Amino acid sequence: MRISYSTSLNGRLPFAILPCDETTVKTGRFPKKVRALVGRYIKEKRFTGAPKETLVLSPTLAGLPRELALVGLGPREKVTSEMLLESGALAMNLARERKQVEVALFLPSELLVNDRYQFLIDGALLTNYYASLYKTGKEASELKRQLVRSLTIVTDTPLTSQSRSRIREALTTTANVDYARSLISRPSSEVTPEYLETEARELSNRYPAMTLTSLDKAQLTTLGMGLILGVNRGSTREPRLVILDWNPRQEKEQPIVIVGKGITFDSGGYNLKPTGSMEDMHGDMAGAATVLAVMRTVAELRVPLRVVGLFPATENVVSGDAYKPSDVLTSFSGKTVEVGNTDAEGRLILADALAYAVKTFKPRYLIDLATLTGACIVALGERYAGLLGTDTELMEKIERASSMTAERVWRLPLDDYFSEKMKGTIADLRNVAPELKRAAGASLGAAFLKEFVGETAWAHLDIAGPALRQDKTAYDPKTVGTGFGVRLMVEFLKLEADQRG
Ligand code: BES
Ligand code: MN
Ligand code: ZN
Repeated sequence: MRISYSTSLNGRLPFAILPCDETTVKTGRFPKKVRALVGRYIKEKRFTGAPKETLVLSPTLAGLPRELALVGLGPREKVTSEMLLESGALAMNLARERKQVEVALFLPSELLVNDRYQFLIDGALLTNYYASLYKTGKEASELKRQLVRSLTIVTDTPLTSQSRSRIREALTTTANVDYARSLISRPSSEVTPEYLETEARELSNRYPAMTLTSLDKAQLTTLGMGLILGVNRGSTREPRLVILDWNPRQEKEQPIVIVGKGITFDSGGYNLKPTGSMEDMHGDMAGAATVLAVMRTVAELRVPLRVVGLFPATENVVSGDAYKPSDVLTSFSGKTVEVGNTDAEGRLILADALAYAVKTFKPRYLIDLATLTGACIVALGERYAGLLGTDTELMEKIERASSMTAERVWRLPLDDYFSEKMKGTIADLRNVAPELKRAAGASLGAAFLKEFVGETAWAHLDIAGPALRQDKTAYDPKTVGTGFGVRLMVEFLKLEADQRG
């Protein structure tokens, strides 16, 4: 996307978006020419500024864009990030329906006062995603031609350099949300553990401050990562543990470590998933994709913090040698685990990854993102990620970032009751608690992970709902992966960097 800036809403612009809240409509504080144009529509209540209301006009007045799309934001004091994201997307979708590829977005100074205005830009960029990755020929080029190619930001007064750099950051971050979406949406025949490793390698090759360590099957065996290896046993594709270390000051700073679940396909294993539950399970590596996208953003924005991104990657499939219910596995930490259900594989691979992170990096903060449980979707739906952990301060910081980016999180309980349930009969732990049937699944999954983080300040995001949601927002692509968590983690890291100065 090409970004340019202008201070006039002029006649050379083919399509301009005009976001306006109800106060603007009431006070009529539009640019002069626009006021003359929209006055009648407002008087006749054909546009009130209500949330998600739109009105597309084709002004014949000289000096105005050829098409002008008004989008309502609702009452000024109630304008949220979510509303801005949706409105930006809505307007951009109007442009695309009209086959416009050059779009202007007018940001009146009244709006610029609100810290969140940039989410209009995020929403517009996020909806301009090319989803048909495998289409060929004429249809593909037709679809690509419908993508908006240039965005002009129009303001009454020139933007400060700070505003411009925030817009550039939005552009970088949303491009990496698209990167995560594409990784998640591609099939598991292509996005294998090795593929994810290659993505990490290419990133580390581009930035000297980014170092890659990638552990293959032989190294994982030497290290005793019995949980990753156990889940991997049924697969012909070798597992990986991929570690990216962004250390811009080359200091022995305690890093923030972000871990992602990287199951490239979850068939359930011998506890096979039924038809209807397996189709999207190439997206079970959404956590790992988020980690890759966050690390890419961290490098591109030169975030002045040490950040480590890591993910275990393997398929969970069946073969004559696949792990079975009742198998006992020995983890990297030394704790033994009874496998009650081969479909509870995410917690197994993450447990080894978390224990490795704790031992290797002594993280200042440890955060994992995982499409871990269907139970979390049952509890919270598809808009919210479950938030659990051992450190209130860390969870509050994630909530603060979440209230900015509108990637919603909601806390779920995690206490000794759940830990008690994850104790094994013949081994230290078990990966499911069958007597609870389907109750409290998200808390039980987190309680299992908790056994492997020791005293580390840790937070767990169960993103099973929002990362793969079926009930799409205006800015979600129509494919499986939404890219949920990328903007959230980038915002969290930026807040953290600001706070530490
Ligand atoms: N990857 C799934 C969870 C999932 C389900 C993610 C739907 C996205 C959409 C996970 O590995 C899984 O299978 N969890 C089981 C756990 C159970 C066996 C304790 C589940 O949720 O049923
Ligand atoms: Mn599973
Ligand atoms: Zn899974």
